[in-house]
Amino acid sequence: MKEFPYQRILLKLSGESLTESGKTGIDQRRVDAIAEEIRICHRSGIRVAVVIGGGNIFRGMAAASGGMERATADYMGMLATVINALALQESCERVDLITRVQSAIEMKSICEGYIRRKAMRHLEKNRIVIFAGGTGNPYFTTDTTAALRAVEVSCQVILKATKVDGVYDSDPVKDPAARRFARIGFAESIKRRLRVMDQTALTLCMENQMPIIVFDIFKSGNLQRLLAGETVGTTIDGRDGFEYA
Ligand code: GTP
Repeated sequence: MKEFPYQRILLKLSGESLTESGKTGIDQRRVDAIAEEIRICHRSGIRVAVVIGGGNIFRGMAAASGGMERATADYMGMLATVINALALQESCERVDLITRVQSAIEMKSICEGYIRRKAMRHLEKNRIVIFAGGTGNPYFTTDTTAALRAVEVSCQVILKATKVDGVYDSDPVKDPAARRFARIGFAESIKRRLRVMDQTALTLCMENQMPIIVFDIFKSGNLQRLLAGETVGTTIDGRDGFEYA
């Protein structure tokens, strides 16, 4: 069997992954479950960086469509990611992982500011680095943050944790005939406008040959299967075309 070929990964978590479907706030059991998955990666010798969203607390786009200025709404969303990062840090440290939170927006009294070289050093020392505060700029998503940080700190792959088990050719909730891709190229997923990640994030990954694996982090054993070299979810990479699962 193939081995998992990556030693340094960036785990992208949505804010919604910290709460039950349709709810807001933080569900401690979910955060603990994610910390446990991170521990599994760490135990197998993989260096882990994390980018976390904030949608469980505040959705910038929704507020903007309700009339709030987009930049203000985005800054509020970035603050929400810091709350989530601290929650995840707590849960990780309870399972004996050493973590550092770095925020793109300076908040010296609660976490480190984002310094690329310091983040690299933390990863070299086998610490889990949790990136908060998005890119620090409005108009960018946390998916774009994930792409940017992954490239900056030399991760080899982005694991995008979702509540569905990969990327489909149409919405599997609405279309029973939807088929899952085992693999799809960046150009193909941009062309098809698949809503797996926003176009800025996908383009950044494409230009920097950063593969993405989209998978359901809450399906028991999924991460272990991935680390054992099995095909899980959907891989998005630089090759042309696609293959169905
Ligand atoms: P090394 O330099 O590799 O030893 O890293 P380190 O993170 O252990 O050293 P440092 O002295 O930078 O940090 C010690 C602790 O202080 C860690 O828990 C950091 O997360 C925390 N820390 C560092 N800088 C800041 C900051 O600007 N604000 C806050 N709130 N904590 C910080």
